Amino acid sequence: MSEPNPHEFRNALGQFATGVTIVTTIDANGMPVGVTASSFNSVSLDPPLVLWSLAKTAHSMPAYQNSGGFNVHVLASHQSDLSNQFARSSDDKFEGVDWSPCAQGFPLLTEYAALFRCKTHFQYEGGDHIIFVGEVIDYQSHDLPVLVFHGGRYADARQKARPAEPQEPGIDLNSGQFSDDFLLYLLSRAHFQTSYPTRKACRAIGMSEPEYFCLSLLAMSGSLSESEIVNRLEHTGHHPDAEIFARLLRKGWVKPDGNNIHISDSGRETFIKLLAHSKALEEQLLKHFTDDELAGASAFLKKLIDITGSDIPELW
Ligand SMILES: Cc1cc2nc3c(=O)[nH]c(=O)nc-3n(C[C@H](O)[C@H](O)[C@H](O)COP(=O)(O)O)c2cc1C
Repeated sequence: MSEPNPHEFRNALGQFATGVTIVTTIDANGMPVGVTASSFNSVSLDPPLVLWSLAKTAHSMPAYQNSGGFNVHVLASHQSDLSNQFARSSDDKFEGVDWSPCAQGFPLLTEYAALFRCKTHFQYEGGDHIIFVGEVIDYQSHDLPVLVFHGGRYADARQKARPAEPQEPGIDLNSGQFSDDFLLYLLSRAHFQTSYPTRKACRAIGMSEPEYFCLSLLAMSGSLSESEIVNRLEHTGHHPDAEIFARLLRKGWVKPDGNNIHISDSGRETFIKLLAHSKALEEQLLKHFTDDELAGASAFLKKLIDITGSDIPELW
């Protein structure tokens, strides 16, 4: 073959979709070192060996050649910013990154889809790169969608659908049995499971569910009369009565406002804490989904809310 055109050669290589890893070790002064590498691959199951390659021009080359080992972190889909951070030469790539040293002192990142802790087994010359072969001494994996690198860009992996299997009907009206394919069952189960931690947080501060619903409505809508609140919460299954309103007043979470009631400063503060709690939960949950899955789920739910919401008063 004649000399490859570097641009075309790079493009052709880019057609091989890979995962993305951050490989870490320490330098001669014991300082943490890390690089983004998509050249990672498996080599052997027995003995357990993996490889990756590093450009000879990399500043961190001496550290990998001399430290005796490295930790390979396979990145999850939500970690593309971290990948960029470790792909830039910088004195402090670890700034703002959660990590701790492993037994050998090499940095262990807190988040990853999979981790391979390796002892350096071989180092080979590979043109303008050095190929490191590591013997895996420990590994971990988490059930997270992984980050993919293809054609010079980040991507998400989407698994192909399995060949269709004969479907059980979602619901049997004769026996009253229903399976996991009954969509309304899935929706309500997802709702109960995802709202459970927030309901527990409410209970821990002595707030009942109807009180929580009233507060969230008042936080969004300003001042409302009791009958407006009852009307707007009708479809949620909560019917706050005089006792609930009296309790909200007693706890100082709402204030009278003429014939209406209004959320108080302490009510808003309490509500914001609960909201922050839900937001933190959401952030953890979203890590389990790819951008495509989230966009699809969001479009589906908005459409469903639209279709079923025509005779329901605007909640907020
Ligand atoms: C997705 C991605 C994959 C990369 N894979 C490799 C790789 O396998 N080997 C390599 O030498 N550089 C790779 N790089 C580039 C290095 O991460 C980058 O040159 C890094 O800054 C080298 O670190 P250092 O010079 O600070 O040691 C990759 C960069 C990106 C964004």
